[in-house]
Amino acid sequence: MLNIRPFNPGEETAPLAELDTRFTTERIYRVRRCGLSFVLEEEPIDPPYRKHYPLAGLEAELATMDQILVAELGRKVVGFTALKFEAWNRQVVVHHLYVAPPHRGCGAGRRLLDEALEFARMAGARGLWLETQNTNYPAIRFYLRTGFRLCGLDDSLYDPAGQGQGEVGLFFARDL
Ligand SMILES: CC(C)(COP(=O)(O)OP(=O)(O)OC[C@H]1O[C@@H](n2cnc3c(N)ncnc32)[C@H](O)[C@@H]1OP(=O)(O)O)[C@@H](O)C(=O)NCCC(=O)NCCS
Repeated sequence: MLNIRPFNPGEETAPLAELDTRFTTERIYRVRRCGLSFVLEEEPIDPPYRKHYPLAGLEAELATMDQILVAELGRKVVGFTALKFEAWNRQVVVHHLYVAPPHRGCGAGRRLLDEALEFARMAGARGLWLETQNTNYPAIRFYLRTGFRLCGLDDSLYDPAGQGQGEVGLFFARDL
């Protein structure tokens, strides 16, 4: 049975950086500019788009988080999320959220978000906020399904010469 629990990187270890973050998609959201407006259009892509989220340096970053939640099956970590409470605007920022491929589509992501919402409530936050990319069609569908709304975008977020080139940052919010 899936168990969601807080993880304390100062007191315990788990191979979170080894979690498989890969995804493949045959659709993306193409962002088109129309004057002062932006339109997101669902677009099939061939060949499929593949991406993973590098987790190098994760341990140091996790030490700066306010809450880390792991999803476990027995003693095996199959997913995690890392959260930071921003006092200035009372939002909890979801910095990481991943479920290992064999365990996707079974409710682990939703359970992690449910617990993230509970953390946000306890912290006195307004809700959850996160950034994903226009290419991460599966995650966008997931966030829309779990009650998030698109609240903005940034087409200058990613360095055209670096990782994530050509991607547009999309922001999502879920109010409490
Ligand atoms: C995005 C991710 C965390 C979702 O986790 P998950 O455990 O597969 O999601 P769940 O099984 O809890 O799904 C919750 C709901 O979202 C829906 N959903 C999940 N993935 C979906 C998809 N690709 N397309 C449409 N709906 C989807 C489910 O059908 C489910 O709906 P329901 O509860 O009403 O039946 C997971 O796919 C993942 O780790 N992806 C790769 C890493 C990644 O992209 N992380 C996000 C970075 S911003």
